[in-house]
Amino acid sequence: MFVVTGGNAGIGYFISEQLASAGATVVLASRSQSKADLAMKAIAARIPKADLRYHSLDISDLSAARQSGAALAEFGRIDGIVLNAAVLSQKQRRETADGHELVFGTNYYGNVQFAAAALPTLLHTEGARLVTMGSVAQRIGRLDLNDLEQRNTTYRSMRTYGTSKQAQMHFGLELNRRLVAAGQNMMSLLAHPGGALDGLTPDRPPAFEQTRRDRRNAVLMRPFVQGKDRAAWPAVRALLDPTAAGGELWAPGSATGRCPPRRDPLRGALTDQQLARDLWQKTQETLDIQWTV
Ligand SMILES: NC(=O)c1ccc[n+]([C@@H]2O[C@H](COP(=O)([O-])OP(=O)(O)OC[C@H]3O[C@@H](n4cnc5c(N)ncnc54)[C@H](OP(=O)(O)O)[C@@H]3O)[C@@H](O)[C@H]2O)c1
Repeated sequence: MFVVTGGNAGIGYFISEQLASAGATVVLASRSQSKADLAMKAIAARIPKADLRYHSLDISDLSAARQSGAALAEFGRIDGIVLNAAVLSQKQRRETADGHELVFGTNYYGNVQFAAAALPTLLHTEGARLVTMGSVAQRIGRLDLNDLEQRNTTYRSMRTYGTSKQAQMHFGLELNRRLVAAGQNMMSLLAHPGGALDGLTPDRPPAFEQTRRDRRNAVLMRPFVQGKDRAAWPAVRALLDPTAAGGELWAPGSATGRCPPRRDPLRGALTDQQLARDLWQKTQETLDIQWTV
């Protein structure tokens, strides 16, 4: 059984569809049951035997994210979770109900809170995997541990998004180091989808159908990016490939998704293990998490 956060739309939808087509039971963790129902209808239309469940999750609300992660225990056995749900860049600085900058608070704090609460269930399942969805945008991120809330700097929307994805990727890597140190056989891996546009994504009624605007936006980008169906492949590979190992980053084999996913080496900020440890420590204090690893 696999859990896909944000499984109702975009790349998360296609991760769910591909897992279902491989015969897995898939839990779509989403903040909207009605959207998840449409996604499950679309998957069932293509894969009549698909075993699909809905699980409520809002990563912009820390208490809801904690409850949702803990409630996964009701499923008993979870073989893997993909932390796919995220918000994209916002034009202006806004805050979550918990008072965190919205993009960092949702993508980083929300996902970490959910994962921390789900961890006991994952550790319960032999060889379980947690896959964190990163982004190449992490390269423009700047993690300033004294200003994670972006109060002391001019707010730059894409940089903030990149920072949130870099923080997520550090989390996935640091978690894996801790799992190894604790002698656990659970693995934490990273994936990134490359660039993906709705206008290059196949229709999946009643969940998703391209608009004329989607198609227009995709015209010039076609040689450089792919649809969200192919963008789902690296995460699915990280989740299912028997040769995949903890701490790896799975990436598209080519920008347009023509080649199969491959392992990408970790570079730049992602090799800074001290930064990852410091971020982990600070996050533990901010979210008051009692880690089991
Ligand atoms: N598309 C790209 O080119 C690209 C590139 C690099 C990385 N990524 C990463 O890939 C992942 C998926 O991207 P995408 O393009 O598929 O995005 P998308 O189409 O915007 O889908 C985002 C998903 O996240 C969910 N979500 C957002 N806020 C949430 C919240 N507070 N609680 C629970 N779910 C929430 C959305 O649910 P709703 O439908 O309810 O909003 C939706 O299911 C993200 O992690 C993104 O950072 C994408």
